Amino acid sequence: MLDRHAFLEKHSGPLVAAILFVVSIGGLVEIAPLFYLENTIEEVEGVRPYTPLELAGRDIYIREGCYVCHSQMIRPLRDEVERYGHYSLAAESMYDHPFQWGSKRTGPDLARVGGKYSDEWQRQHLIDPRSLVPGSVMPPYAFLDKTKLEFDRLDTHLIANRRVGVPYTDEQIANAQEDLKLQAGYFLAEDFEGFEERWPDVSYPAFMDKREITELDALIAYLQVLGTMVDFSTYEAENPDNLR
Ligand code: HEC
Repeated sequence: MLDRHAFLEKHSGPLVAAILFVVSIGGLVEIAPLFYLENTIEEVEGVRPYTPLELAGRDIYIREGCYVCHSQMIRPLRDEVERYGHYSLAAESMYDHPFQWGSKRTGPDLARVGGKYSDEWQRQHLIDPRSLVPGSVMPPYAFLDKTKLEFDRLDTHLIANRRVGVPYTDEQIANAQEDLKLQAGYFLAEDFEGFEERWPDVSYPAFMDKREITELDALIAYLQVLGTMVDFSTYEAENPDNLR
C-alpha cells in the first residue's frame, strides 16, 4: 500500500487524477442530492415578490451601496435576536436577486426595519441623518429626493426576475409601471381594482396627490417592506421547535 503511495508522489499525472477522484466523491455527496430536491428553501406564508415600486427602491439601495454599511440578516445569536427579533429565515430573501445579507455593520441591521419608523422619519433621516440622530456617521442622501425615478422599462426588470424564479404573473408584468405609480400615490393613477387584484396584500396612499415620483419615494417603499412579510407571532406559535 505504501509503495503505491510512493508511485503517486513520483508521478504528477496519476497524482492529479487521484486527487480529482477523491475530491469528486465529496462533491457528489454534497451536490447530487440537490438535483433531487424540489426546493432547498422552506416556504413561509406571507412572503411575496417585491412590488414594482419596492423593486425600484431596491435598485437604488444597491446602486447607493447601502449594503456597504448595513446588513440584512439577523443571525441566531442571542444579542441579535433580542435586538432585532426572530432570526432571518431563508424564505425571507428567496425573491432577492442578489440577496442583501451583507457582512459589514457600520449601521444597524435592516432586515426588520420595515414599519419601525414612519415614512416621514425615513425621509427626513435619509435627507439629513444627523437632524434626527445627532451622532450619526451615515451620509446624507438629499439628492434622492430631487431625482426623478426612472421606471419606463421596469417591466423588463420583472421579466428578468421571473427568469430566475420569482413568480411574477403576466398581469403584474404588463401593469408594472401603472402599479408603481399607484403605490407611490401618483395623481393620475386610477386602476385601484386592478392593483388590489394583482397585489392583494399591498396598501397604497389614501390620497393620490403626488406630482412627481422620486428615487427617495421608491427607496422608502423598499425599506418599509423589509421584514414585514412574515407574521412572526403566528410563525413562532406554529414552529415552537425553532428555538430563539
Ligand atoms: C457610512 C455607512 C452608512 C451608509 C453608506 C449608509 N448608512 Fe444607514 N446608517 C448608518 C449608521 C451608522 C446608522 C445609525 C445611526 C443613524 O440612525 O443614523 C444608520 C442608520 C440607518 C437607518 C435606521 C436604522 C434603525 O434601525 O434605526 C436606516 C433605515 C438606514 N440607515 C438606511 C440606509 C440606507 C437606505 C442607505 C443607503 C441609501 C444607508 N443607510 C447608507 C450608516 C450608514
